[in-house]
Amino acid sequence: MTEVLVVAGPAAAGEYVADILARAIQTDPETVLGLATGSTPLPIYAALAERVRTEGIDVSSVSGFALDEYVGIDPAHEQSYHHVIDAEVTQTLGLNPERVHVPSGNPDTLESAGAAYEEAIRAAGGVGWQILGIGANGHIGFNEPGSPIDSLTRQVPLTEQTRQDNARFFDSIDDVPRHAITQGVGTILRAGHLFLLAFGEHKADAVARAINGPVSPEIPASAIQQHPNVTVLLDAAAASGLDAAEYTVVTGTPAGV
Ligand code: F6R
Repeated sequence: MTEVLVVAGPAAAGEYVADILARAIQTDPETVLGLATGSTPLPIYAALAERVRTEGIDVSSVSGFALDEYVGIDPAHEQSYHHVIDAEVTQTLGLNPERVHVPSGNPDTLESAGAAYEEAIRAAGGVGWQILGIGANGHIGFNEPGSPIDSLTRQVPLTEQTRQDNARFFDSIDDVPRHAITQGVGTILRAGHLFLLAFGEHKADAVARAINGPVSPEIPASAIQQHPNVTVLLDAAAASGLDAAEYTVVTGTPAGV
């Protein structure tokens, strides 16, 4: 079932998801988190870190798997997802770095990196809770339009739109890599529960097509319709392409639910 919630904004969405994840970790210390990068999930990581601190939650056995990485970027580069995940998730939450995985964007080992990543996810028992943002073109992970619904972790080209959208993180558009390695749509669908978050008017069309459009490789996020446990969290602007009857407006966190 896809539950669509409209919240006040990114901070409220972060609190909402962090609340669920905090309880999941307390119930199962070996919880496996699926980690997105980009701007959207940052409030979740901040809110979860706050709970870990204030409630003394033991995260030493929690694992994490990032969705994607740029190909050919130095893992030490500030904008590599190795670096971003380390700074925003591993360090912020105090996770064991050995349990946090990011696909390798090393061009020399790309042929085997996808299968190795799938195997690492499998060996960890699968992702329990997958955090997702969505591209303005409907991508999830770096599965751009045209990505098969059953695709697995592999190298993909980035579209010009995605490169331009991500140019804000680099000195210039020329510095944005042209390829990435990403979990496939099929990989993402294997997670136990999906959280898809989107904020802002520029995501409204992609959100509407993901929720109401036909399930199609042209809008990779539409694949969430095939997943039994999905929570979509939006601000009012990102929900503006939906009918009000399609969502629930939420003012608090799910504590006690
Ligand atoms: C990031 C990722 C992408 C982003 C999407 C939205 O790991 O896989 O799908 O979630 O591009 O990016 P933001 O959140 O920066 O708008």
